[in-house]
Amino acid sequence: MEELNLVKNRITELVKECNDEKCLVLLDKLAQGKMIRSKLILKIAEVNDESIELCAVVEMIHAASLLHDDVIDEADTRRGKPSINSLYDNKTSIMFGDILYSIAFTRLSQMDKKIAYEVSSAVTKLSIGEMIDVDLADTFNTSYDKYFDMIYKKTASLIEASAKAAALIAKKDENKYALYGKNLGLAFQMIDDILDITSSSETLGKPAMHDFYEGKVTIPYLLLHERLDNKQELENLYKIQLDDNQISWIKEKLQSTKALEDSISMAKKLGLEAIDALKDENSEDLIMIMKAMIEREF
Ligand code: IPE
Ligand code: IPE
Ligand code: MG
Ligand code: MG
Ligand code: MG
Repeated sequence: MEELNLVKNRITELVKECNDEKCLVLLDKLAQGKMIRSKLILKIAEVNDESIELCAVVEMIHAASLLHDDVIDEADTRRGKPSINSLYDNKTSIMFGDILYSIAFTRLSQMDKKIAYEVSSAVTKLSIGEMIDVDLADTFNTSYDKYFDMIYKKTASLIEASAKAAALIAKKDENKYALYGKNLGLAFQMIDDILDITSSSETLGKPAMHDFYEGKVTIPYLLLHERLDNKQELENLYKIQLDDNQISWIKEKLQSTKALEDSISMAKKLGLEAIDALKDENSEDLIMIMKAMIEREF
């Protein structure tokens, strides 16, 4: 996609403006992501200076959140390459995250006030979401409400703000697009949580089967725990380094209790609700984006 290169070039230009060689080296070490937030923005607002600037801001915020997330989650790979924390150290990953956040906020301060407000307040939610995610990993969480509140904040809020800001640029109905982005974002994180179990580290480009070890009781585990007669059996595997037999046991139970199947259905349902918010818009491309986000393999 030609227009995604415009976004990448804009990010490079903004980092160059810092006049710091190391920042450029670090930027180069960040591998290319899927850029789904940019794809969404450009579908809603089309390609113009304002939408490209918004994409660059959102992608820098997203990259910053991942730089911090990999420190928090102690992840050694990202986007198929060594993460910055493993290549350098935690300090570098945190500092470069801060730099990307602040470049993004500097650009936001020069943009439309309402857009600046929506995007920057989403970053507060994202950061609080990350904090809740860590806190929920203290003990085995069994609350669906807590899980959904957390994934809304850490992931859906930025996708919601991206869609809303793009609608503001395009002078479309911002509330409809915000609702689309919110439901899409919830579905997107649920799929991320499912892929942690069903995919491999190679395909994902980041550690697989890592969430439960970290203490994250994601949607498939929530459903599984609820459905098991002997809950202790699953609780015994919580936050431990699993061997092959234990992994097979979890995967078999996720199948036989239909916890996995039903998690996928829940994500799909949210995807359909996202589309429903746009039923009066001419939104074929946005239906495609929703499907691609849900039927993805990494
Ligand atoms: C990963 O986001 C973190 C989540 C919010 C699930 P992406 O899946 O969009 O990551 P990249 O940018 O494509 O690597
Ligand atoms: C999403 O959570 C992270 C952010 C919103 C920053 P995860 O911790 O599940 O993301 P991945 O799986 O490492 O990409
Ligand atoms: Mg992570
Ligand atoms: Mg995380
Ligand atoms: Mg994940």
